[in-house]
Amino acid sequence: MTPALRFVLCGSVDDGKSTVIGRLLHDCRQVFSDELKRVEQDSGRYGTQGRATDLALLVDGLRDEREQGITIDVAYRSFETPRRRFIVADAPGHEQYTRNMATGASTADLAVVLVDARKGVLPQTARHTRIAAIFGVRRAVLAVNKMDLVGWDRDAFESIRDAYRAIANEIGLAAVEAIPVSALTGANLTRDGASAPWYSGPTLLAHLETVDVEESPAGRPFRMPVQYVNRPHADFRGYCGRVAAGTVAVGDAVGISPAGTGSRVASIAVGDRPRDRAARGDSVTLTLAPDVDVTRGDVVAGVDEPVEVADQFQARLVWMHDEPLAVGRPYAMKLHTREVGAAVTRIRHRLDVSNGSELAASVLELNDLGTVNLATDRPVPFAPFDESRALGGFSLIDLATNATAAAGTILFPLMRAANVTWQQLDVSKDVRSRLKLQRPQCVWLTGMSASGKSTIANLLDRRLTNEGRHTYLLDGDNVRHGLCRDLGFTEADRVENIRRVAEVARLMVDAGLIVIVAFISPFRSERDYARGLFEPGDFMEVFVDASLEACAERDPKGLYAKALRGEIRNFTGIDSPYERPEDPDLRLDTEELSPEACVDLLTERLDRELPTPMREDR
Ligand code: ADX
Repeated sequence: MTPALRFVLCGSVDDGKSTVIGRLLHDCRQVFSDELKRVEQDSGRYGTQGRATDLALLVDGLRDEREQGITIDVAYRSFETPRRRFIVADAPGHEQYTRNMATGASTADLAVVLVDARKGVLPQTARHTRIAAIFGVRRAVLAVNKMDLVGWDRDAFESIRDAYRAIANEIGLAAVEAIPVSALTGANLTRDGASAPWYSGPTLLAHLETVDVEESPAGRPFRMPVQYVNRPHADFRGYCGRVAAGTVAVGDAVGISPAGTGSRVASIAVGDRPRDRAARGDSVTLTLAPDVDVTRGDVVAGVDEPVEVADQFQARLVWMHDEPLAVGRPYAMKLHTREVGAAVTRIRHRLDVSNGSELAASVLELNDLGTVNLATDRPVPFAPFDESRALGGFSLIDLATNATAAAGTILFPLMRAANVTWQQLDVSKDVRSRLKLQRPQCVWLTGMSASGKSTIANLLDRRLTNEGRHTYLLDGDNVRHGLCRDLGFTEADRVENIRRVAEVARLMVDAGLIVIVAFISPFRSERDYARGLFEPGDFMEVFVDASLEACAERDPKGLYAKALRGEIRNFTGIDSPYERPEDPDLRLDTEELSPEACVDLLTERLDRELPTPMREDR
């Protein structure tokens, strides 16, 4: 069957969006009357109820967004005529639903932009068009609705058409078909409107049936992200995935990214059937000869035009999470069939979607669109979103909650990282460790202000030093006087604060030291990030626990009193959260235990096994 035409319907309830959909479904006899009723009932709300969206539509590997903790209301409905099958994404139009619009647009071939003939082109018309274009829609159809209410006035129609074409042109959309319609009567929507003899173009439905959106697979290089490796027995290894671009034939030479190895296609199957060739959109199983190493998330590509690989990108994001984007915070990135760690290293600007202007920004909040620099924790095969939605569209997943934090598009790779390689050093951590006769590690104390972190850290540091250990103590207040002098206490600043300290602690452990870190470090995801920097066993998370009441009572620096009087903002425990460790390596209850007793427990737990002494290999 030919692939369906996917379109997103842009406009607000007032513009007659639900009526348009209802009419299309009804006139194509795709609905029973109770269903039509439901469509119309839905028009009373902005969020159409329908099935929850599959965000996998933006990123193939992402299956069930309910599991990811979000429900984005984009209703997908399908209908068909003898000529074509259609899938319409009905996304709510208001500004607070930007993320829904982006989701709907991300898989659409075309946008149908609805304008009320009485109101003309509104700021939101431009906003919708811009979001659709950012998420890959290249064609728009303008439907000027409610023409019956303006007496099918030709001048009104033409001035709206010209105003919209000017906007679409500026946004970079191809020639826009404009159609005067009445969704209420169906005129020019599904049947010719006798009321507008001056209009000789197609009805909306006829246009949708015939418009050409298929890029021809020829001329595009072959790309297939590997979804899964099928290995039923030792003699067979098939690589399954969906052809994202181009065509492939048995005997073709292919390259595997990111490894850069080469092979040849030995067989192709679509379903159970062997085939000589396959094209974009086919779900295939390939075998290769010789059989090189290929894993999920690799991309098989035409050998002459290999897939680009990078680990730094400029990208567009639509922020979908209640928690704002924090620069430096680690997220999971799902890009085609691959999942890697990623962090935004810089917000370049926020986009004003109504007019396309770029605004300075230090955070992105729910429904904001922005351009960012993004770093992945390893090189990934990709294509700019402009070239391939399948290889250039991604999502960011919040590590703490598993919720989808953002949908994004890769604009282009940043070359910097490719030129910075990791220098292998001859003197290793192991050598340093044996020289110092100790096991280097990081003892990470987390807890609220005045919970006792600094006192315990200090005491532990003294004790270890007295025993001849080589240590260093990184304390929040002290580090904030130098390395982190530029940071305050917003969420974003704390994230960056912890990132820097974790990186410094890692270097110090690499240098052979026992590093004691005493930072509030209020967020789970940054503590997890810190842990991830160390080898297993080299990181110990210690929760220095005391109730808020006890901390506020102790208040050695008078900060709780100030915070309660409103003189300090974003104070942990008062108006900024502290996320208690769920499973720390050690919990020290400082309301029960003296600092000495805490340090006793700590030193017991510290792995004090002596490494093998240095000999001639020194
Ligand atoms: S963290 O949240 O980024 O880990 P950090 O441990 O570096 O915080 O700094 C905490 C210290 O800064 C506290 O012990 C306290 O002395 C001081 N401080 C000043 N303002 C605040 C605030 N708003 N919230 C927490 N601590 C603050």
